[in-house]
Amino acid sequence: MGLNTDRFDRKINYLRVSVTDRCNQRCFYCMPKNGVTPFSHSQILSYEEIVRVVEAAVSLGIVKVRLTGGEPLVRKNICSLVSQIAKTPGIEDVGLTTNGVLFKEKARELYEAGLRRVNISLDTLNPFKFMRITRANHFHKVVDAISAARDMGFDPVKINMVVIRGVNDDELEEFARMSLDHPFHVRFIEYMPVGVESRWDLEKTVPSPEIMARLEKVGRLIPVAGGRLDGPSERFRFEGAKGEVGVISAVSNHFCRTCNRLRLTADGKLRPCLLSDREVDIKEALREGAGRQELMGIIAEAIDLKPDGHRLDRETVHCRKSMSRIGG
Ligand code: GTP
Ligand code: 5AD
Ligand code: SF4
Repeated sequence: MGLNTDRFDRKINYLRVSVTDRCNQRCFYCMPKNGVTPFSHSQILSYEEIVRVVEAAVSLGIVKVRLTGGEPLVRKNICSLVSQIAKTPGIEDVGLTTNGVLFKEKARELYEAGLRRVNISLDTLNPFKFMRITRANHFHKVVDAISAARDMGFDPVKINMVVIRGVNDDELEEFARMSLDHPFHVRFIEYMPVGVESRWDLEKTVPSPEIMARLEKVGRLIPVAGGRLDGPSERFRFEGAKGEVGVISAVSNHFCRTCNRLRLTADGKLRPCLLSDREVDIKEALREGAGRQELMGIIAEAIDLKPDGHRLDRETVHCRKSMSRIGG
C-alpha cells in the first residue's frame, strides 16, 4: 500500500491549495456581508513554503494541484506560483478555481506560466441577480473572463454554478444550453451547508436527481467517462454538443467513497476533508526548517486522518471555517 493510500483504500493524488482567504466578492453563501477578518501576512504561507509542501506531496503520490482561495487571483504574483508548481517534476496537472473577476487581465500570463485548466464560478446570467448573489458588480468581467479563457486556449474551461432554490434554479436549463454551442463544461453544484454565517437550509439545496431531471428536458444526456484525476463531478454530454455538463452531488449521494483529495489552507493547515474541521498544522514545521521527509510524514498523517465521509444528507453540519478560508 502506497503512503498516499488512506485507511479506506482511497488513493490521494489531488492537492487543493488555498493561496489566500481574501476575495474581491462577497457571495452570500460563502462570506458574510462585511467579509471576515483576513489572515495577516505572516499567518499565510509564502509561495516558497507552498512549493515545499507541493514537492513533499509529490513524493507521496500527489500528481494534481488546484489553486483556490478565497480568490486566488487577488494574491500578488500568482503566476510565479503557477509556474513553479507546473515545473515541479511529477506534477501532471495544475488547475485554478477563480471567480473570474481578475482573470481576463491575467489570462495570458497564466497561460504562459503553464496553466491550462480553469474553473470559473458563475451563478447567474442576470446582471442584477449577480449583484444580489455576489454583492459586487463584476458580472461583465466574469462573462468576459469565460470567453477570454476559451479564446486563449484553456481546455477545459469549466463553469461552476451553485444551484440555490428560489435564487437561480430557474436558470438551470439556460446554463445547460451553453454547453451546446461552446466547448464549456458547465457544472451544477449542490448548495452545501458550509461557512459560519451561511444562510443554508436543506430546502435551498436542489438534489442532484432533480438537477438531472431538469437537464434531461434540454436533451438526451450521454455519460462521459471520468479520468483518473477527476474531481467529484459526474459528467455528461448532450448529443452533438461541443461542451459537457456535470453534476456535483456535494450533499446528497455523496462521492466521499472515491474522494481523492487533500487540502492545504492559506494559513498552513492540511485539511483531510472539506466538511470536517479536523486539520493538521504544517506551517510550524515549515518555519522550523523541516526537510522533505519530515513534511512527507506530516502529509501522510493528514491522509491517514481522512474520514470515510460526511453526513450532510442526514444532519446539518456547519464547519467553523468559512468556505473562503478552505477553498471549496
Ligand atoms: P476538477 O475536477 O479538477 O475540475 O476540480 P473540482 O471540480 O474538484 O474543482 P472546483 O474547485 O471547481 O470545485 C467544484 C465544486 O466541488 C466546489 O463547490 C467544491 O466545493 C466542490 N467540492 C470539491 N471537492 C469537494 C469535496 O471533497 N467534498 C465536497 N462535498 N465538495 C467538494
Ligand atoms: N455550496 C456549494 N458550492 C460552494 N462554493 C462556495 N460555497 C459553496 C457552497 N456553500 C463554490 C463556489 C466555487 C467553488 C470553489 O465552490 O461557487 O465555484
Ligand atoms: Fe469569493 Fe468565491 Fe466565496 Fe464568492 S464563492 S465570496 S467569489 S471565494
